[in-house]
Amino acid sequence: MVDFTLTDEQKNLRELAHDFAEKEIRPVAWEFDKDGTWPQEIINKAHEVGLMNTHVPEEYGGPGLGFLDGCLIEEELAWGCSGIQTSLGANGLASAPVELGASHEVKEEFYGELIAEPKLASFCLTEPGAGSDVSSMRTRAVKKGDKHVLPGQKCFITNGSHADWYTVYAKTDPDAGHRGMSAFLVRRDDTIVIDKKEDKMGQRASNTATVTFNETEVDAKYILGEENKGFKLAMMTLDRTRPGVAAMATGIARAAMEFAIDYSKERVQFGVPIAMHQAIQFMIADMATKVHLARLATWNSAVLLDQGKRNTLESSHAKRFASDSAMEVATDAVQVFGGYGFIKEYPVEKLMRDAKIMQLYEGTSQIQRLVIARETLLPRRVAEPAAA
Ligand code: CAA
Repeated sequence: MVDFTLTDEQKNLRELAHDFAEKEIRPVAWEFDKDGTWPQEIINKAHEVGLMNTHVPEEYGGPGLGFLDGCLIEEELAWGCSGIQTSLGANGLASAPVELGASHEVKEEFYGELIAEPKLASFCLTEPGAGSDVSSMRTRAVKKGDKHVLPGQKCFITNGSHADWYTVYAKTDPDAGHRGMSAFLVRRDDTIVIDKKEDKMGQRASNTATVTFNETEVDAKYILGEENKGFKLAMMTLDRTRPGVAAMATGIARAAMEFAIDYSKERVQFGVPIAMHQAIQFMIADMATKVHLARLATWNSAVLLDQGKRNTLESSHAKRFASDSAMEVATDAVQVFGGYGFIKEYPVEKLMRDAKIMQLYEGTSQIQRLVIARETLLPRRVAEPAAA
């Protein structure tokens, strides 16, 4: 059965997130973007109304929402401001390897903290010399008794400056390539140095930092999954979180399209609102198609996860298409605004800057194409249609 009808609970959830975005995020989004203001008050409020940590299962005190539910929320909050939503949503990325690889006791401990207070966690994979090529990372985890000791540096870490704990990937067998990586849950302590808060082009209200581990000790119980199986855990994590990124990109595209529609009805040139000109109508039509298809691909990739199926291919389809579409729609929205679109006083300039990162983080559009090509060329996938 193929049915994208939302349940009443899902509609309510979407309305709650939209209201929050409209009342709490939109009014400050452009101001926060200007100075890169950290949205702590919004984080506190989102935590209070239950729009954070929606992934945490009920047995650990969370709402235990599904992946599609999460995407509904993410699209609305990113419609408000994708920078602020990146801050609100990063706990989901840090928690995915915990969900996949931690013991019951460790989940109780770490999820419990996220639910009790508006605390933050970060996902530490990327390094200065290891971006798309994950297995070239240099961070080490050396066994010392029943602990591991981590020396290494991670960069571009979302919420890095504000996180209480980190999910960190490190080499446990440096000669074994991707089969020698492990994942660890690391509490912030004095051995961890946070610096280089990045001054970014877009999503300026999100925090992006460098996190350096100086002989940081980690207990054996905080290894996530099996030792040396960290690479697969990272890939499985990204399969689970890329639908959310696609949902955010859809939110940016929708916001840009709405601003372009409103402006095109007000702006008069050649004696009529520019919305009367076919050149503008076709741009708006293309925007609407891209938003629609981005959402469908996003929902498809999330529903597969909710059904317990592997979604590697669909997740990359959604992330690639929605991110590229967000960039195209935001760029065209600036075009509809003409010269005014280039001015910071008008809203679409920020959206064009924000959209750019969607094609970069959680796997560039080129990496998504690499995954799509590999998955599509595999005979197994051809014999097994997308949503089967
Ligand atoms: N699920 C399970 N296993 C998987 C998998 C998946 N989705 N993808 C690959 N694997 C397995 C393979 O089957 C293979 O297994 P074996 O060891 O049994 O052979 C193994 O993993 C290695 O796979 P590949 O040969 O495909 O690995 P690769 O080195 O060629 O890399 C890649 C593949 C797709 C390029 C991967 O490295 C990748 O996704 N890179 C992008 C990284 C990325 O997205 N970074 C974003 C960082 S997070 C972030 O941006 C958030 C933030 O805070 C800003």
